[in-house]
Amino acid sequence: MLPKHVAFIMDGNGRWAKARLLPRSAGHRAGYKRMTALARHVFACGIPYCTFYALSTENLKRPKEELGSLFSLFSEFFAKEIGAMQKEGVRLSIIGDLSLLPEDLAASARSGVERTKEGTRATLVLALGYGARQDIVAACNRAVDLGRKVDEAEFSRLLSTGGLPLPDLIIRTGREIRLSNFLLFEAAYAELLFSQKYFPDFTDEDFDRALKEYARRDRKFGTLRPQE
Ligand code: FPP
Repeated sequence: MLPKHVAFIMDGNGRWAKARLLPRSAGHRAGYKRMTALARHVFACGIPYCTFYALSTENLKRPKEELGSLFSLFSEFFAKEIGAMQKEGVRLSIIGDLSLLPEDLAASARSGVERTKEGTRATLVLALGYGARQDIVAACNRAVDLGRKVDEAEFSRLLSTGGLPLPDLIIRTGREIRLSNFLLFEAAYAELLFSQKYFPDFTDEDFDRALKEYARRDRKFGTLRPQE
């Protein structure tokens, strides 16, 4: 079976650049190019939701210069890709706290979401200024504001992923084996896959292999199979 929602932790851009004696910004640019091509491949495979972890709350503590290069890439993405997404029927969704980003960037992100909202073919989710713990705490505070207890389904809707299906498959590139504050609530029954490759080197064919591996996984969600 195909996953309905695939999420990527795009790790290894810095090491990809270092191995080529290039600045870290070149690694992020290579990652950005790979991300836009990979998203198209994921949608062409028939998977309607694809999330990319582009900036965590912790990444915001990186040096000003590196953050500046990431912010320029995000601006470039909003300037160049939104028109294409509209034509391709792809809706943009953002998870995370946009108030942590420079105001002009946050405004471009909001405008991208607005301009693509009619897209029905697929949804591209960018995690920007995202941290799962912070998102869970924000959802708890929203629940408190409601003034009553909420159940699991209602709590899920209070998260920034509220309108999205749960991730079926999370792929982390770059050799580390951890979730790094990504989708901690939503990942309860996601299949996890860790690639040795740095993100700019993770090809469409690597993704196809990941899908085959996913199809071999036995997803029981804590229950027994019918015949057991
Ligand atoms: C982690 O690799 C990656 C990031 C902190 C940034 C990822 C962002 C992009 C690929 C750009 C995406 C562009 C858009 C428009 C959303 P790292 O720098 O920590 O790598 P390292 O562990 O090898 O140093």
